[in-house]
Amino acid sequence: MIQVRKLEFSYTKKPFLEDVNFEVSKGEIFGFLGPSGAGKSTLQKVLTGLITNYKGNAIVNGMESKNHNNDFYENIGVDFEFPSLYEKLTARQNLKYFGSL
Ligand SMILES: Nc1ncnc2c1ncn2[C@@H]1O[C@H](COP(=O)(O)OP(=O)(O)OP(=O)(O)O)[C@@H](O)[C@H]1O
Ligand SMILES: [Mg+2]
Repeated sequence: MIQVRKLEFSYTKKPFLEDVNFEVSKGEIFGFLGPSGAGKSTLQKVLTGLITNYKGNAIVNGMESKNHNNDFYENIGVDFEFPSLYEKLTARQNLKYFGSL
């Protein structure tokens, strides 16, 4: 489902993400760990097509993410770092609500 090969990206002229390589298979649960500032969220932005000026490959569901078309977003789901639930609802009410959509 995800293939990352020789990925390079930097916000500045200094190297940041360098030679990142990994694969995630269909159905696999993959934990991506690293210290604060390591580049995890940056890599998430590459994989979700928000950063496109990277080098190497970031292939999601067979599509190079920088070349994504509109269908790309029909097939991925992302939960970002900020809360994406209604805090006045209970956990069960949140599950019912989002499950109903
Ligand atoms: N838009 C940006 N422009 C310049 N530098 C940025 C930008 N976004 C992030 N950075 C820099 O990239 C580094 C952090 O990268 P990132 O947010 O990918 O780390 P992280 O591994 O997700 O960290 P955390 O565990 O804190 O979430 C920091 O040095 C930050 O200043
Ligand atoms: Mg982060």
